[in-house]
Amino acid sequence: MKDFVNVGLLGAGTVGGGVLKVLEKNAEKIAKEVGKPVRITKVLDRHVDRLKQEYGDKYIFTDNADEVLEDKDIDIIVELLGREHPAKEFIARAFANGKHVVTANKDVLAKYGAELFPLAHEHNCDFMFEASVCGGIPIIGPMKTSMAANQITSIMGIVNGTTNYMLSKMANEHLDYDEVLKEAQAKGYAESDPTADVGGLDAARKITILASIAFNTRFNLDDVQVEGIESIEACDIKYATDLGYAVKLLAIAKNDPENGVSLRVNPTMIPLSHPLAGVNGVYNAVFVNGDAIGEAMFLGLGAGRLPTASSVCGDIIDIARNMQHKSTGRISCT
Ligand code: NDP
Ligand code: HSE
Repeated sequence: MKDFVNVGLLGAGTVGGGVLKVLEKNAEKIAKEVGKPVRITKVLDRHVDRLKQEYGDKYIFTDNADEVLEDKDIDIIVELLGREHPAKEFIARAFANGKHVVTANKDVLAKYGAELFPLAHEHNCDFMFEASVCGGIPIIGPMKTSMAANQITSIMGIVNGTTNYMLSKMANEHLDYDEVLKEAQAKGYAESDPTADVGGLDAARKITILASIAFNTRFNLDDVQVEGIESIEACDIKYATDLGYAVKLLAIAKNDPENGVSLRVNPTMIPLSHPLAGVNGVYNAVFVNGDAIGEAMFLGLGAGRLPTASSVCGDIIDIARNMQHKSTGRISCT
């Protein structure tokens, strides 16, 4: 048995930097939780010089993926590169090499989940992705475990931090669309290509992931009707407010016994008295309806460095515990 759980990090940007910080700051607590220390050994990122300046020799930085993916001492790969490629190929290679994977990459999950989950299962590896939906809010875990006994009838949520930040600022501070988009980018909430946020694609990916778990069926992006917020102007929001409504980008999944499951993302006018109308800034919220639990609402920070790192690190700890108890691959994606 090794003395450490060794982690290889792919991508040390906004979220990856947060993961380095949380694992270092709370190292002692995490070691107690797991039963042995968890440490990042190697980091893949193309900005090696900048990272060496920032972190010194605490970690081995490389721009060669082989050095991380082929390292036999690494137990868990944390993929935080973003975009579909080469992230998907790196995740597949990690499984082929018997490494567990944590990712926040909804682009890869929504498109290649059907290919990657069986691969994880085949190699008895854990594949965890709590941060891929709603950043810091625990929603995937509860859906897979605490709510597993329910027949879920609907999921309705604000699942994109960038657009909720933008719509809230446009409503409350009467700022323009372009100005608030720039702010959301500067704060690290937006995707590297923010058209996925404002066009509703990011929310569509997230509802695809949630619905696949909730309804035990593999959905993909083609199943989602998508409309973004690009055509919304400050005056639209003002008119809606005058009429007693908030404008929110909602992602909705419904399971109707007669017509089956429908998935959609679109800007929606919500009465100001509704709890979702009060979810502002980079906060996200998900309403789940189940036949046993009734209505449950999950609320928290949906994007950003540390909240997202919180979910990623939670997944790392979960896997490290499974490794300790030789119970990896326990909750597969059926
Ligand atoms: P960043 O762009 O901030 O960080 C990614 C880092 O990886 C950058 O330094 C990037 O360099 C580097 N990188 C990307 N591809 C390669 C490659 N092939 N080889 C070497 N280095 C590479 O992204 P985030 O941290 O914001 O996001 C990471 C993931 O987390 C994404 O999947 C995102 O959707 C997800 N996520 C992000 C949240 C957030 O709040 N930011 C919240 C929840 C999920 P370069 O910049 O030069 O490309
Ligand atoms: N760009 C995403 C958002 C990051 O704004 O919600 C979190 O998934």
